[in-house]
Amino acid sequence: MQSGPLSLENRAGELQDNGQPLLQIRDLKVGFAKSHGILPVINTANLTLGRREAIGVVGESGSGKTMLCRSVLGTLDRHGARVLGGQIMFEAHDLANAPESVWSKVRGKQIGYVPQSSLAGLNPVINVKTQMVEAITAARPMSVQDAEKEAVELLEVVRIPRAKDVLREYSYQLSGGMRQRVMIAAALAQKPKLLVADEPTTALDVTVQKEILTLISRLRRELGMALILVSHDLAVIEEVCDSLMVMYAGASFEAGSVSVTVHAPRHPYTKALHDSRVDTAERGKPLEAIAGEPPTIGSWPSGCRFWPRCPLGDDKCRAGDQPTLRHVAQQLTACIYAERMGDGHD
Ligand SMILES: Nc1ncnc2c1ncn2[C@@H]1O[C@H](COP(=O)(O)OP(=O)(O)OP(=O)(O)O)[C@@H](O)[C@H]1O
Ligand code: SF4
Ligand SMILES: [Mg+2]
Repeated sequence: MQSGPLSLENRAGELQDNGQPLLQIRDLKVGFAKSHGILPVINTANLTLGRREAIGVVGESGSGKTMLCRSVLGTLDRHGARVLGGQIMFEAHDLANAPESVWSKVRGKQIGYVPQSSLAGLNPVINVKTQMVEAITAARPMSVQDAEKEAVELLEVVRIPRAKDVLREYSYQLSGGMRQRVMIAAALAQKPKLLVADEPTTALDVTVQKEILTLISRLRRELGMALILVSHDLAVIEEVCDSLMVMYAGASFEAGSVSVTVHAPRHPYTKALHDSRVDTAERGKPLEAIAGEPPTIGSWPSGCRFWPRCPLGDDKCRAGDQPTLRHVAQQLTACIYAERMGDGHD
């Protein structure tokens, strides 16, 4: 790990911090092109990520987290969607409506991806070796022998035992945890500056989840990568990330450092997520599930999209558009009554 192709030493210079964010998503709007018109799925998302920083993106199912990842990877068109507005600044370049010729230099090379399903991410009819060699040689032409050596090294970096044997195997022969490690190894093949991991531990048992999260934390520190970690689970984000962006119905609801945002939220939805956590629930006390259901895309309510479920909501919340993020205390919040929430609830 210390002297291989992924060592920090080899990356000196690439990681010079110029004080600018590595990634800045500003007022992003994304929609699906349907026969009856555009169906908005993200409106509006904002996210700022520094070099080597880890940000967690949390929100209930359907809030647009995976579509946000696809926006950062330039794969929206494969899913019938496109950027309708806003910016995706990666270093000095706006990738929001960049052509494929630009994306193909960024995707998988400067931005690595661990998809939501490791089963979908690996091709079942091609062995691990071929897939790893393809990932390694995608931007760095080299002999197959050298690429195979690097593949073994990458599998060792993600702590896969018997790496040479595993290279000969197919995804269906591997456990869920091993598949996820292979996906992470493949995502690291081009030494990305940013790793996007979309729920990398969903569907794994608790012990394996812990191992994969520890692996991701270690790799991002050792390789000096920035990380976007998508999860339903605030506990996971608290363990791994520096900052947090809360998404609901396609919009950013709150953002800030993990420690402040989780424990002194300035948005009722973040507080509701916190209060429904299983890991911090008091024994014998019923969990406070969030009342109601999130809206489906295409039928967001007017005004604040959270008002049908919000304990603080009133007529003012129902009017106009979804509130935009503004600074309150140490974070950004999209609640018009954020000041009423005080300085913490623990
Ligand atoms: N091709 C499509 N056409 C219409 N709606 C779609 C399409 N693909 C996804 N959606 C919807 O877009 C919304 C956002 O999806 P997305 O996958 O980003 O949610 P998510 O926050 O990642 O959810 P999960 O936590 O379940 O992974 C969902 O309501 C989903 O049903
Ligand atoms: S704007 Fe109103 S409805 Fe929305 S989160 Fe704040 S208090 Fe609740
Ligand atoms: Mg998803």
